[in-house]
Amino acid sequence: MAINYDEIARTFHLSNKKISYVIGILPNGQLNNIYFGKKIRITNNRKNDIDYNYRVMHPCVPNQEEYISLNFVPQEIPTFGQGDYRPESLRIEKIDGNQLDRFAYQSHQIVKGKQSLTSLPEGRPIGNKVESLIILLRDNSTGITAELQYTLYEDLSLITRSIKVTNHSKDAIQIRKIMSLSLDLPDCHYESLQLDGAWARERYMQRNTLRSGDNSISSIKGASSAEHNPFIALLRPETTEHQGEVIATALIYSGNFLANINVSTFGITRLQIGIEPSTFSWYLDENESFQTPEAVLAYSNDGLNDLSHTFHQFINRFLINPKWQNYLRPIVYNNWEATYMNFNENQLINLAEEAADLGMELFVLDDGWFGERENDRMSLGDWVVNSQKFPNGLDKLIETVNKNGLYFGIWIEPEMINEESNLYKENPDWLIHHPQYHKSASRNQYVLDYSRKEVVAHIFDMLSLLLDTYPINYVKWDMNRYISEPFSLKLPSHRQGEFYHRYILGVYELYEKLTQKFPDILFESCSSGGARFDLGLLYYAPQTWTSDNTDAMDRLKIQHGTSIIYPPVSMGAHVSAVPNHQTGRVTSLETRANVAFFGNFGYELDLLALSNQEKIIIKKQIEFYKKYRQNFQYGKFYRLLSPFKGEETSWQVISEDQQTIIVGYYRFRRGINELNIRIKLKGLKNEAIYKYNNQFITGGELMEIGLILTPLELSEEGKDFNSRLIILHKK
Ligand code: GLA
Repeated sequence: MAINYDEIARTFHLSNKKISYVIGILPNGQLNNIYFGKKIRITNNRKNDIDYNYRVMHPCVPNQEEYISLNFVPQEIPTFGQGDYRPESLRIEKIDGNQLDRFAYQSHQIVKGKQSLTSLPEGRPIGNKVESLIILLRDNSTGITAELQYTLYEDLSLITRSIKVTNHSKDAIQIRKIMSLSLDLPDCHYESLQLDGAWARERYMQRNTLRSGDNSISSIKGASSAEHNPFIALLRPETTEHQGEVIATALIYSGNFLANINVSTFGITRLQIGIEPSTFSWYLDENESFQTPEAVLAYSNDGLNDLSHTFHQFINRFLINPKWQNYLRPIVYNNWEATYMNFNENQLINLAEEAADLGMELFVLDDGWFGERENDRMSLGDWVVNSQKFPNGLDKLIETVNKNGLYFGIWIEPEMINEESNLYKENPDWLIHHPQYHKSASRNQYVLDYSRKEVVAHIFDMLSLLLDTYPINYVKWDMNRYISEPFSLKLPSHRQGEFYHRYILGVYELYEKLTQKFPDILFESCSSGGARFDLGLLYYAPQTWTSDNTDAMDRLKIQHGTSIIYPPVSMGAHVSAVPNHQTGRVTSLETRANVAFFGNFGYELDLLALSNQEKIIIKKQIEFYKKYRQNFQYGKFYRLLSPFKGEETSWQVISEDQQTIIVGYYRFRRGINELNIRIKLKGLKNEAIYKYNNQFITGGELMEIGLILTPLELSEEGKDFNSRLIILHKK
């Protein structure tokens, strides 16, 4: 890993074993993108990186010997109004209304570790495995500076980048747009990949051909959203899971975002990601700064699956709280789909005893335990124990849970408020609204104004009291609606554009304070399932409830798409009842577990209604998961067959010591009159011998000829929605 500055060529070269990122300084001091991709050696006599030809209609940079039209120059910070007509990455409005900026190189620093982005989640400078380049740029007309930070993480094929703008002028300024990343690529022979969906069908893979102009996705919902994940990738048309070039970016952020691919009619591509600009502005007085969230920019020359390995390693090694790195996540029992909000203490005690008997490890008490909560009309905001349901507080339940060897976890939804609550009676103006407009409810609830410090402080105190009172090991932090009527009663008019970002900063502040004060509590984030499954929240909460849809067949698509960037260990995956509560589909207990094993495993059904036969099966499943938990949670994950392409899905994990390989094979419909199935495995040692079903096979055979399953093995149950798990051991 190295970051070099070549004074003759005026170029920066960030590189590690796998990638190179090269930045140049143009004659007018602006920075240009020279290269991002596979590691290369770079000489100092590069010519023609810039197109110096005059082009009809296009303005040129003044006072240069040659024609430079910014519209054709690949840049690090393209700005508005000076001849680049593609989307800018930065636009700042000055006191006289002009929105022009031209940032020129001033100085740079190469540092071990990185400069921390205060109050925002970010890649962590762990050990001495991280190095950063910080380039200071200045707009000479106003004195405004922009500091770009690029960070390399050891041998991973990615960098992170962010920008900090400081107002050194006497007058206030307003940032109108600021993208965390802007990358120009010299051609446009790409397709795009995005992770799209909605509630209960989150992160479906969507591969599109690009058209000229903007190809963008965004969220203006106040959350990263179930509709579009803050991620976008460029793939060569020939790129597959296991070969070909891919460049991807993702934002370490949980609020409104924009990811855009602009293809110019000159056949060049601009990739950007950052805070969504139409719902954002930020006012800076003299000497104030604004720090953007950090963007991740990743590369692979070996297909999408390799890109996923890079993201998974980044998340597990450099993003999540080090406290939870390599931590074997407990098998959850969650009472939601068993009881919903209708439960009493005895029923929960019975469920906990049964969960313990079956071998589960963490009992999670979901929605319904607080205030006077009987239904979703009431009590959000009152984080005190419901005295009707728990006359003795939570003590008795937690004691039973702990006595039976289980950890205890609890559900909260701290950003929300019901009108029927004490919090609302005391602070009716704390919910986000505009006094002259209707308040739009969703699930009968409203969002608290987390842009206000006193709101965050109050919720922190309430939750601290709860977590101080009871021995709670796990918290599921939910967020069940998007924001509407965005307006803060506390912000002055010129700062209303800051509302959404300040809201997310409030969420991060509460997460930061709670995780600091209660470092031993494992947090799981949730947003009606996976509406806020993003890198920002993974920084605080190392696991996320992937989707409210627990149907095994639907989960294939959801978990497959999610795994494009998020590792299996981050994905909550539970076995639930049939007929499934979301889809009505009936799948076998085996298939439900075979899908959920490839995640952060648990159960979410009425254990008191299980037959003895089902209990025997569940016990075995739990024993099996415990035995192979390390492999499922921290092994290398491969997507072999895609549910987006046909009737079959197949996944594989290889243990870190490479000794154990687990393959899952799933299909929607049973076949008829069919030939053997061949699944070509990945990542094995060509010469090594693997044992499967008392057969000895080489890695080469398994990868090139395939693992062969006979129709008999597949149709054992004679049903649709069938699955098999295959375990191979290296000799
Ligand atoms: C959301 C979550 C569910 C459950 C309910 C409780 O929908 O995604 O898992 O916690 O809220 O109200």
